[in-house]
Amino acid sequence: MAQLQKQQNFCFVLLLFVALGIAYAREAFEVSFQQNYKIAWGKHHIFFLQHGREVQLSIDKTSGAGFRSKLEYASGFFQMRIKIPNKDCRGVVTAFYLTSTAYKHLGAKHDEIDFEFLGNNGQPHTLQTNVFTNDEGGREQRHSLWFDPTIIFHTYGVLWNQHQIVFYVDEIPIRVFKNYSNVGVSFPSQQMHVTASIWNGEPWASNGKRIDWKQAPFTAQFQGFNIHGCQTQNYNKHACYSPYLWWNDKKHWKLNSQQQRAYEDVRKKHLLYDYCSDRGELHKECQIN
Ligand SMILES: *[C@@H]1O[C@H](CO)[C@@H](O)[C@H](O)[C@H]1NC(C)=O
Repeated sequence: MAQLQKQQNFCFVLLLFVALGIAYAREAFEVSFQQNYKIAWGKHHIFFLQHGREVQLSIDKTSGAGFRSKLEYASGFFQMRIKIPNKDCRGVVTAFYLTSTAYKHLGAKHDEIDFEFLGNNGQPHTLQTNVFTNDEGGREQRHSLWFDPTIIFHTYGVLWNQHQIVFYVDEIPIRVFKNYSNVGVSFPSQQMHVTASIWNGEPWASNGKRIDWKQAPFTAQFQGFNIHGCQTQNYNKHACYSPYLWWNDKKHWKLNSQQQRAYEDVRKKHLLYDYCSDRGELHKECQIN
């Protein structure tokens, strides 16, 4: 009996060490903000925590704030852990997105891939996603989240390769935007910065209501500044389509059956709004499925 107890204790201690090891490995493996990102605007509304491994953005009446990647990318799997303001923050938008900026002066059309939290208004927390390609957006989808995104960090991610763009919440694919260029739908092709911000979205994000500035500042926290992406600074963007980059591998060309089930389940239970049901006639990709 005592022997068994000892063994159990030993197993417990071993497990504890493994768990701690994983936690430390993750910590050690994570780069600090400065490695990949820089402040874009509102520097007095940005605070660094945990030795630069966490960043807090805040907004008050005077300013919001934003940061973006130092480099641009043309494919990858981009993720960030985010905790949004825990107050009634109608009108305050917390955003994590990829956006093209370069070559506008040469007539390049804008591409963008967005996550936007539209504040809360006593409503379930609403996450909006959107895709702009070739200057054309208007592809909003809105989901109600199945958790409270103000309490702990959750991971929001975008897979972007030549075949599809997938929006993930934690491990779950909530949206897929396929490359239908074969039928004339354009697909984001420009190099993009990875960006995050908190900004004043009234009136569109607040149904015309005003931000309650008495509750300011509103703060959002961000973690996870590693970037798994193909940067375009030293390479031609076509190198970013290489099959040797893991996110371009065939297994990421479409959802696997398990992901497909999770995706369909989320659509059934949590999709609040889909541009295809609203303005589908304006978008060819809506007429395909
Ligand atoms: C979209 O798919 C086509 C093949 O159907 C490919 O040639 C093209 O590079 C893809 N576009 C992007 C931006 O990845």
